[in-house]
Amino acid sequence: MAAALQTNIRPVKFPATFRALTKQSSPAPFRVRCAAASPGKKRYNITLLPGDGIGPEVISIAKNVLQQAGSLEGLEFSFQEMPVGGAALDLVGVPLPEETVSAAKESDAVLLGAIGGYKWDKNEKHLKPETGLLQLRAGLKVFANLRPATVLPQLVDASTLKREVAEGVDLMVVRELTGGIYFGVPRGIKTNENGEEVGYNTEVYAAHEIDRIARVAFETARKRRGKLCSVDKANVLDASILWRRRVTALAAEYPDVELSHMYVDNAAMQLVRDPKQFDTIVTNNIFGDILSDEASMITGSIGMLPSASLSDSGPGLFEPIHGSAPDIAGQDKANPLATILSAAMLLKYGLGEEKAAKRIEDAVLGALNKGFRTGDIYSAGTKLVGCKEMGEEVLKSVDSHVQASV
Ligand code: IPM
Ligand code: MG
Repeated sequence: MAAALQTNIRPVKFPATFRALTKQSSPAPFRVRCAAASPGKKRYNITLLPGDGIGPEVISIAKNVLQQAGSLEGLEFSFQEMPVGGAALDLVGVPLPEETVSAAKESDAVLLGAIGGYKWDKNEKHLKPETGLLQLRAGLKVFANLRPATVLPQLVDASTLKREVAEGVDLMVVRELTGGIYFGVPRGIKTNENGEEVGYNTEVYAAHEIDRIARVAFETARKRRGKLCSVDKANVLDASILWRRRVTALAAEYPDVELSHMYVDNAAMQLVRDPKQFDTIVTNNIFGDILSDEASMITGSIGMLPSASLSDSGPGLFEPIHGSAPDIAGQDKANPLATILSAAMLLKYGLGEEKAAKRIEDAVLGALNKGFRTGDIYSAGTKLVGCKEMGEEVLKSVDSHVQASV
């Protein structure tokens, strides 16, 4: 099936100002994946896409944490910042410049902040920041989107659910990311024979698209608690009937994973009724979009949740699942933890650097254990801090774990 939006990637000639704005913090990046740097060091090229709203604030913090945790594990990073979303629209008139796609493709992993804002809301669809993000996902072929939702003991009171319902929730939504109704054709707005406007989209999945996301989900469940729930709307949608059939057939290859199926309306209800029943959830693009927002709220704040988008080969895309929050942009109020945890996912799933990833995860817990909270996760008795201070506390925590382990 054609990824219709991908064809919208337009070549742009960068004006001089663009070049000046694309920063390289280290010497020319290598074009070889993980080339050896100095002896005992591994070097990785990371494309940073700060984007819009709170994106630049949270990315600059996550970059420092990534660098720090990596250096303690003998990793060297070379960062290249590129524009995407509204920032790219303002700079060169398209939400995803070709140069950004090329840089992303040539790097080892991509870390994205957030895109979108009021300023571009009324733009035509092909000139919306969101279109740039969809083009990027299609361009990198990152079909598997992992969105964990874990209720940390430190934050259980930040959940809107009762303590006994929220406590101990630890689930992973595996969302198909480059197919379904988001990309399906035909699509559009046309005038019908009665002269009335009609908007339409197509929910379409080819067997291979279902199989490959299902395999990622079975593998994910296997490494977790061995339970996989496939969410669809097979009582109504043909695409879901095929989805259920393919997932069921694949289950034979994963006898150690317990597979169940659930209709999406029921899943939405079960997620707030008894979220602990879920381990791994696999679902299509649009259901995954909706259910992962819902799952995030169980944890207390969407500001806590990272994501990883992976392809068969090639760099992964790592981003917080929250948006650009234009209402608090530039006010030092954003929660940087989702982006910091996305950097941890980048290390773990993108580069296979589990030790460095663990350093970041531990450092986040360390800062929370000391009582530091941004506004979105604040509760009485904790210490309210801004975005920068939270970042500094995580950095300190990366360091203190080193001292503790020497
Ligand atoms: C997400 C977002 C995006 C999506 C938007 C910004 C295009 O909601 O990553 O969940 O719908 O996938
Ligand atoms: Mg969403």
